[in-house]
Amino acid sequence: MRKLATPVNAPPIEKEYAFEVAASNLRFGEGVTREVGMDLKNMKARKVAVFTDPNVAKLPPAKMTDLPFEVYDRVVTEPTEASWRDAIAWARQQDCSHFLAVGGGSVIDTAKAANLFTVYKDADLFDFINTPVGKGLPIEKALRPLIAIPTTAGTGSETTGTAILDITSMNFKTGIANRAMKPVLGIVDTLNTRSCPKELHISAGLDVLFHSLESYTAIPYTERTPRPANPILRPAYQGSNPVADIFSLWALRATVKNLPRVAKDQGDKQAMQQMLLASSFAGIGFGNAGVHLCHGISYPISGLNKTGPKWKHPGYAVDHPIIPHGVTVALSGPAVFQFTAPSAPSRHREALAIFRNTSPTDASITSIPDSEIGAHLFETIAQFLDGLGVPRGLKAVGYTNADIPKLVQGTLPQRRVLDLAPGIGDVAGEDGHEHLTKIIEMSMEY
Ligand SMILES: [Fe+2]
Repeated sequence: MRKLATPVNAPPIEKEYAFEVAASNLRFGEGVTREVGMDLKNMKARKVAVFTDPNVAKLPPAKMTDLPFEVYDRVVTEPTEASWRDAIAWARQQDCSHFLAVGGGSVIDTAKAANLFTVYKDADLFDFINTPVGKGLPIEKALRPLIAIPTTAGTGSETTGTAILDITSMNFKTGIANRAMKPVLGIVDTLNTRSCPKELHISAGLDVLFHSLESYTAIPYTERTPRPANPILRPAYQGSNPVADIFSLWALRATVKNLPRVAKDQGDKQAMQQMLLASSFAGIGFGNAGVHLCHGISYPISGLNKTGPKWKHPGYAVDHPIIPHGVTVALSGPAVFQFTAPSAPSRHREALAIFRNTSPTDASITSIPDSEIGAHLFETIAQFLDGLGVPRGLKAVGYTNADIPKLVQGTLPQRRVLDLAPGIGDVAGEDGHEHLTKIIEMSMEY
């Protein structure tokens, strides 16, 4: 029998030539949470694992299914290895046919992990965690259906296959980003963010802002290497692409317009609705393009806080130090986009125009030379954050210059996001180290 010829001389590392679009089905509307019981029935659920946190467990959405269900309400804000292991052990024991997550990103992410490790019942946590921290194995089995109902306008986790956790032993966050983990349906109900305190609205909204800015300015997917040998290996975070761009830009415009309104008046229902929509849109954007430097740097900022500054952000009713995710991301924002601007001046020019509520073709924007776009963006983003009452740099949350090397070291392993950062060069090399140090230095105070 003749054997098929195997190509010899496989070409050297090639750049990507394709991109893929994956997003959960979304249903958006006021009061639409009430439909979830019918959804689960329609899906012939045998038993539902409901994930919430202790606060959300008291709210009506968690009580809306008359199917057999079990509730896991020990989800913690900013999940850790330990909290994931607890949730996974619980879920493996329950062996539910369907998953329902009602809460913020922490809850939805924990449900994704519980689902994954229920199906892979003998796998270890680190088998699927992103390389180089974990093995980053591909997910080949079909997971169980997960419906996600966000109660904050922030992570966009209802649309993506991303789940983030704090690796406490290493003082930073990482996670699993795999489209196989995305919910089958996100129920985006504008009534569900009504009870959020002001600080939560702001920090969740900052997450939306930087998801959209980072995904719009990520390297183009055609610049990413290596081209995957098998489509299952194509990462969810692919680099900017025409579809993600549309969602990211829409979310950026909506956030710049509506987040200050929500910060000013938590009774502004229209602005809150727009922010929730923006959160999902930004999720579709970054879920397919990826985030880069602000997120990469945010992970050690939140991780090291536990042993270092021990900052407890106002408005967060927790008994441990916390810098909310959105704030950790925003702290490096001005410096990051000053750094990335020269790599893609026209995209940064567009972002600048959005912040200044004008068109990129307006004379006030076109008169700025490419070389100065970054400096303008630094000022503009810093002003926008200041208007929301965000701490002005890392020193404002208790970090000092002596922490810079640790923050750099904690950022370096975030390869899956750093590799998408324009202009950073070889992250593992001297260049990457130097650039990160500079960005973090510039983020100390402004
Ligand atoms: Fe985020």
